[in-house]
Amino acid sequence: MIQLAPSILSADFSKLEEDVKAIERGGAHLIHVDVMDGHFVPNISFGASVMKSLLGKTDVPFDVHLMIEDPDKYLEDFLTPNTEYITVHQEACVHLHRTIQHIKDKGVKAGVSLNPATPLETLDYILQDVDMVLLMSVNPGFGGQSLIPQVLDKVRELARIKKERNLDFLIEIDGGVKLDNVKEVVDAGVEIVVAGSAVFKADDIEARTKEFVRLIGEA
Ligand code: DX5
Ligand code: ZN
Repeated sequence: MIQLAPSILSADFSKLEEDVKAIERGGAHLIHVDVMDGHFVPNISFGASVMKSLLGKTDVPFDVHLMIEDPDKYLEDFLTPNTEYITVHQEACVHLHRTIQHIKDKGVKAGVSLNPATPLETLDYILQDVDMVLLMSVNPGFGGQSLIPQVLDKVRELARIKKERNLDFLIEIDGGVKLDNVKEVVDAGVEIVVAGSAVFKADDIEARTKEFVRLIGEA
C-alpha cells in the first residue's frame, strides 16, 4: 500500500491540532515531522516539544525527518509511543551504521535520507539495515519548492537495486510533490509520499488529503 505523509512544516501552527485532525480524517498514513537546526539546513523549524504537543491528539504515527547536524545527540528526544520512523541524513552522519543501530535499538524504524545530489552509492553498505530511504526531491530547508526532476531517475534506480538485492526498505520521496505529479512519482517506485504545501496550503485540507490518498491508491 502506498502511504501519504503530509509534512506539518506547512501547517498553520496557530491551529496545529485542527490541521492534523483534518489530515487524519482525510486518511493520511503518517505525519511527516520536519526538524531543522539552522546548521545542516539554512532554516530553523521546531523541536520535539511541538511534535509531543500532538500526543493524545492523533493516532497517525510520526515520521520524523531530522535535518540536523549530529542527530545522535537529539534523536532520543523524538522517541514517543507514536513515533514510527526516525530518519537521519547520510550527509550528517560520520558513523551512519552506528546511528542507524542506535535508532533501531530504541524500537523505532530507521530511515536514511539523501540530498538531491548525493549518490545512491553512499548507501551501498547500509541499505540492508534500514527500514526506509528518504530521497529528497528538493534541497532541504523549506516547503513549497519545485520537485527536482532527475530525482525520479534516482527513485527508479533505487527501486531496481531494492528488487535486485531483495531488500525490504520502503522508498519515500520528499519535496515538491503535488496532485499533478504524484502519479508519476508513485509510478517511479515511491512507496511513501511526503506532501507539505500541497496539502496544508489547500483551502480544504481534509478534501485535499482524500484526493492525494485516492490518487496514490490508483497509481
Ligand atoms: C524540506 C522538507 C520537506 C518539505 C516538503 O526540507 O524536508 O518535507 O516540508 O514540503 P513541500 O511538499 O511543500 O515541498
Ligand atoms: Zn521532510
